[in-house]
Amino acid sequence: MAAAKKLRIVSVASEVAPYSKTGGLADVAKSLPKALSENGHTVYLITPFYKFMQQQNLNMVAVPGKATVSVGKTKYSITFNKLQYNRHLTILFIHNNQLFGSRSHIYGYPNDNLRFFVFNIATLKLIELLKLRPDVIHCHDWQTGLIPNFLSKHRNRYPSLKRTATLYTLHNLTYQMGSNWWEVPIKKIDPGRGDPTKTASQQIANLNFTKRGIVYADLINTVSERYAEEITTPELGQGLDRLLRQRKSDLYGIINGIDYAVNNPAFDNNLPYPFDVSSLSRKKKNKLALQKKVRLDQNPDIPLIGVVNRLTEQKGFRLIMESIDVLIRLPLQMVIVGSGFREYIAFFKRIAKKHPKKIGIYTPFTEELASLTYAGSDMFLMPSRFEPCGLSQLISLRYGSVPIVHETGGLSDTVTNFNPRTRKGNGFVFKHYSTADFLIAVARAMENYKYPSAWEELMRRGMQQTYSWELPAQKYVQLYALAKKNKSKRA
Ligand code: GLC
Repeated sequence: MAAAKKLRIVSVASEVAPYSKTGGLADVAKSLPKALSENGHTVYLITPFYKFMQQQNLNMVAVPGKATVSVGKTKYSITFNKLQYNRHLTILFIHNNQLFGSRSHIYGYPNDNLRFFVFNIATLKLIELLKLRPDVIHCHDWQTGLIPNFLSKHRNRYPSLKRTATLYTLHNLTYQMGSNWWEVPIKKIDPGRGDPTKTASQQIANLNFTKRGIVYADLINTVSERYAEEITTPELGQGLDRLLRQRKSDLYGIINGIDYAVNNPAFDNNLPYPFDVSSLSRKKKNKLALQKKVRLDQNPDIPLIGVVNRLTEQKGFRLIMESIDVLIRLPLQMVIVGSGFREYIAFFKRIAKKHPKKIGIYTPFTEELASLTYAGSDMFLMPSRFEPCGLSQLISLRYGSVPIVHETGGLSDTVTNFNPRTRKGNGFVFKHYSTADFLIAVARAMENYKYPSAWEELMRRGMQQTYSWELPAQKYVQLYALAKKNKSKRA
């Protein structure tokens, strides 16, 4: 077979692990380009340079040349740096002090739309400046949604990109712009079409980046097959389901992978006792260490449930909160690690204070406690109301913590119900988003935990599953090719 043609890919994201991260987007934005570059594709990853990155001593060099982005009467001057990550992967940082370089957070500013509007134009100018001539520009989530729009409306400004296709990946449809899309007054709702620079600068605040990404990208995908279906329904379509149904033939689902060089209990530096499937007794030692750290009763036999996630509505914390009276009466322990909604944190702090030997909450999120919780817990709770992909359940599988999940999005694509008779399945799944169904799944997990050899087999099966980037990266290469085909069709 002839070797497949190697592609030139530009990938654009607002956060890239480990440099900048608020969620799973950052992991994917880094690990997919890394996997593609390791397969010999040439990848440029473009992202903003934020204030907190000054402390990271990145091995960057200046890119000769600069750009100016004008918005109304204001001119933003942009400079660039690059970091050669490996032979085929270059990370390019976009600098503007006012919009990014002086900001301690990635999001949360009243002018977030303006910040990423400028970022999108600066990205295109950089690609043109360096004559990168990519086959495809891969845009991740709302913060990059205007790139396909600019490329289509300002073709003449980017002559070297005449043949470049765009792929727009939806990581979470809730976030469509810098503010909440459902709070935009009806009269100001962005129709999603036209030249976004033709609007007065004040209206930049109302641009719906995601809508425009969906309208103008040559191809669209999301991060699991199930979520790709779900977002075409009014229930999970976040107001864009009709538009997504119109583009259904261009909408794909590819499940994310995880980077086993990073998420691996065998060489996780945060663990007192690194382990793998052949040294499971060390997992018990991590459990005792976790119990000690969070000041729970040190007991190797009590089922310990871990939760590592942002404490938000999406992640299903309502179900846990509404079930808490039942949960605390069961013979179990629970450790929650994460940052998030203040009310949720306050709630669990109150419960933990009342039941210090059973429930522990650790906030804010730290990688160290997250690792220890994956390694030290027997079960991993992820009852998300909806979940585009979810990475935590994939990590939990590798760390031998058996996932208990709601049957939605990527959770449903990666976790299957354990059947003690056939001994198939890798976790516990509940269908309806209700406390009753949720508690039944927890009870089933607890019941099965009573049979150590069957449980160990269940754990081992999960640990041996591979959700690496190898297959997803190949699927993305196919999507890039398809995006190119679409591009020439649409031209
Ligand atoms: C978002 C989604 C999550 C997904 C991640 C990476 O954070 O909520 O489900 O795993 O993006 O694609």
